[in-house]
Amino acid sequence: MKIFDLDHAATTSIDKQVTEAMLPYLFDSYGNPSSMHALGMQNKKDINTAKKHMAHLLNCDFNELIFTGSGTEATNLAIKGYALSHLDKKEIITTPIEHAATLNTCLFMEQMGYTIHYLKIDKQGFIDLNDLEEKLNQQTLMVSILWANNEIGTIQDLAKIAQIVSSKQVCLHVDAIQMVAHYPIDLSALNVDLMSFSAHKCHGPKGTGMLYKKMTTQITPLIHGGGQEFHYRSGTEAVANIIGFEKALTLQYESYSTKQSHLKSLAELFYQGIKKAIPCHLNGPESNETRLPGLLSIGFFNVSGLSLQYKLNQKGIYVSTGSACHSNEIGISHVIQAIDAPISNGVIRISFGTDTQIEDIPYLVESFIECYLALQED
Ligand SMILES: Cc1ncc(COP(=O)(O)O)c(C=O)c1O
Repeated sequence: MKIFDLDHAATTSIDKQVTEAMLPYLFDSYGNPSSMHALGMQNKKDINTAKKHMAHLLNCDFNELIFTGSGTEATNLAIKGYALSHLDKKEIITTPIEHAATLNTCLFMEQMGYTIHYLKIDKQGFIDLNDLEEKLNQQTLMVSILWANNEIGTIQDLAKIAQIVSSKQVCLHVDAIQMVAHYPIDLSALNVDLMSFSAHKCHGPKGTGMLYKKMTTQITPLIHGGGQEFHYRSGTEAVANIIGFEKALTLQYESYSTKQSHLKSLAELFYQGIKKAIPCHLNGPESNETRLPGLLSIGFFNVSGLSLQYKLNQKGIYVSTGSACHSNEIGISHVIQAIDAPISNGVIRISFGTDTQIEDIPYLVESFIECYLALQED
């Protein structure tokens, strides 16, 4: 049975070239970067070289990047770390369609006495910018926004958001974890204070994240210890993972435009095929200019997302009913609820990767139709 992984928004396989770059650091070059001998010092040099190159790609300063143990950790460090450095302000603005990393950090902050404001969003998942302007006030500590939504693919107009937030001298944290898997990011052109990244969405290793922190932005570390990562994130560096992250990002920057057009074609052809045969609704933006390339959140009538996912799984086609990162979220996803989707129960998220070919689409469409019809008969 041929396997089709159509769940790349959940995670991706490690690229072969990434594995090759990582391997030496798992065997001979295993030194602790803090050790004052050749084995350690060479690794320190290598992770610094990797970070310098990532800073070059993202167009920021080497001192502005902090490696973390996940994207979730980067977001926790951004929100809690910024709050700890600015204790006078007690309001946070975010959206109801954030990833759990942000939503649950905000819930924790609420328990700590903060007020969380959730911005209005429209049916495609776009933030109401007037609402953002209205909610910003003297008490606003920060704004935390998901640039590209992992469930419905909505890409926010970050330039406009940043302009509004910075005009009020408020800190802006951005979750760019899905965005960087599809688009190059130029930090010097964006007025953003903090930005979260994760390696495993772009063919890098899991358990590897990074926080961009603008030089002038103050945060307090959450993890104390040996003072690694400019004292912002102590703990012996995961050298192989960092090297892998750098290689993964480099490969992304080399392939963005071909990858984008391939993924857009796959999604377009697939959706056209499905739409003709099954009554369904596309969640998120119609236009693939403002939706993540290759991502489709489709609501199907008269079927549950879970049963469709199960049927497809039996055929070796792996999709998601929402976000795999929220494994404990059973029922209707908070994103689908927030956009008031016309079909809330039968939602499937398909996120193509470059391992799927255009020639595979007719088979995939046929299989979807078959599974859907089989469930109608059950
Ligand atoms: C948008 C978004 N933010 C945050 C995360 C969390 O990143 P990590 O899995 O590295 O903790 C994910 C996925 O897992 C994501 O898709």
